[in-house]
Amino acid sequence: MATKTAEKVPAQKKFTGKIHTVVKWPEPVLAKRGEEITVFDKALEKLVEEMFESMYAAQGIGLAAPQIAISKRITVIDVSFRKDPADKLVLINPEVIQLEGKQTEEEGCLSLPEIREKVNRAAKVRVRAQNVKGEWFEVEGEELLARALQHEIDHLDGVLFIDRLSRLKRELVLRKIRKLQKNGEW
Ligand code: NI
Repeated sequence: MATKTAEKVPAQKKFTGKIHTVVKWPEPVLAKRGEEITVFDKALEKLVEEMFESMYAAQGIGLAAPQIAISKRITVIDVSFRKDPADKLVLINPEVIQLEGKQTEEEGCLSLPEIREKVNRAAKVRVRAQNVKGEWFEVEGEELLARALQHEIDHLDGVLFIDRLSRLKRELVLRKIRKLQKNGEW
């Protein structure tokens, strides 16, 4: 049904794809290494567009394909959450090629709702990846972008941020999740 608010939405390319559901821990696909992308076609472009829209719908600034139950090495990032189109990043088959320094900041994950913990990461990271056309490029990130890059590439290797916590912290987080599960809130 068309509503008045719909008319206020600024003109933009109409999105006709699917909004994917984000799967939560302990969905097995989250612990698997994603498959390399070898075919760069229209279907891949469509999937990337759907990943951005699914990420925005879930209020995220990064989303990896395994989080929508697609075990492939694709991730999308937008640290400004739509404010700056230049921040939209598509990384296919990404590889970290350089890590520098240290930072410890709070992270969250769409697959671990309500969980936020400080994670040790490199302060600066350099990544090599392919775009939707299969062309290789490099991107460098600091601060939030560095964290997002490391967090999302971890997803492609089946690693969640809770796997990077101390054993004790991880245990506490898992206990909280079990409690949420028990209450039907997970
Ligand atoms: Ni995540």
